[in-house]
Amino acid sequence: MKGMAPAFVELPSRVSVYEVSPRDGLQNESAQVATHAKVRLIEALVDAGVQRIEVGSFVAPKWVPQMADADEVCRMIERRQGVTYACLCPNARGLDRARAADVDEIAVFVSASETHNLKNVNKSIAQTLRAFEPVIAPAVDQGLRVRGYVSTMWGCPYEGEVDPARGLELAKHLLGSGCYQVSLGDTIGVGTPVQTQRILDLFAADIPLEQIALHLHDTRGTALANVLVGLQMGITTFDASVAGLGGCPYAPGAAGNLATEDLVYTLHGMGIDTGIDLEKLWQAGQVAEAIVGRDLPGKVHRAGVRSLAK
Ligand code: HMG
Ligand code: MG
Repeated sequence: MKGMAPAFVELPSRVSVYEVSPRDGLQNESAQVATHAKVRLIEALVDAGVQRIEVGSFVAPKWVPQMADADEVCRMIERRQGVTYACLCPNARGLDRARAADVDEIAVFVSASETHNLKNVNKSIAQTLRAFEPVIAPAVDQGLRVRGYVSTMWGCPYEGEVDPARGLELAKHLLGSGCYQVSLGDTIGVGTPVQTQRILDLFAADIPLEQIALHLHDTRGTALANVLVGLQMGITTFDASVAGLGGCPYAPGAAGNLATEDLVYTLHGMGIDTGIDLEKLWQAGQVAEAIVGRDLPGKVHRAGVRSLAK
């Protein structure tokens, strides 16, 4: 196929799943989910073997009211050794909250397109990067891990096509500022496999791909196809959300992250370890559905873990 160069490496034996449902999933729910219900979901996910989990956002409550109780969520969850608990953090105020809440990790976020960035954080991209100065370096100094997101890498809901070279510059900036990993967001789920390969080819020329994760929304059913390209090119961290819960309040149409069960089912079927118990993960998906009170779209969530033929 034109554009599909044989740049593939062997599949990894283990992949790290970065669970985002308590943040990316719940931030987009119209109903306010009770704090104790969020805690129940987080604990069910950790029980299933999830080792990295974003449990909320320290953003402005008037911007994302669903995340207003992130401090309380952090206080209430029973911490499990070996699990990294993370929260989004856009500014110095967010870092103060992160410290008080004793999270292990924070995540800063910026978009590769100006208009989405402005709608999301009320700042230009350049202003956003400046707002990270009192966040990333001080957080690292205080022993927190800092992750970065570059959103709208595959397309912007306001501007359409996005030049991946702009995202690459942002990713380099974030890594150079102290982020240990940058997660590339297909915020509105428009990406297709050859496009993913082109983006990763561009990144691989400049950045070790171990420092890159993929954060794919499955709005058009292409997320797993993009995961496969990522795996073959050396990506070993994938963000996902149980039962496909998710979206972005400032990205119209960004319904549904890649469902964690669909990711884990596919990886395990390919002989790739995740450390997650798929049956228990499926149960956590039932918790997610119960607490939001609506049907969730994940494929394995709906079909069940095993085929009927067994
Ligand atoms: P602003 O209104 O420009 O900032 O918002 P401000 O500094 O003027 O603050 C406004 C008010 O918010 C003030 O309160 C501040 O104190 C307060 P007031 O004086 O009016 O009562 N405030 C805060 N309160 C608590 N915690 C804070 C905080 N900061 C300010 N940290 C700001 C700028 C960045 C704060 C705002 O735009 C915001 O919070 N945006 C967050 C939007 C968001 O969370 N979007 C979704 C997450 S990103 C995403 O989903 C994409 C991702 O999944 C990857 C992908 O899919 O591609 C990560
Ligand atoms: Mg997202």
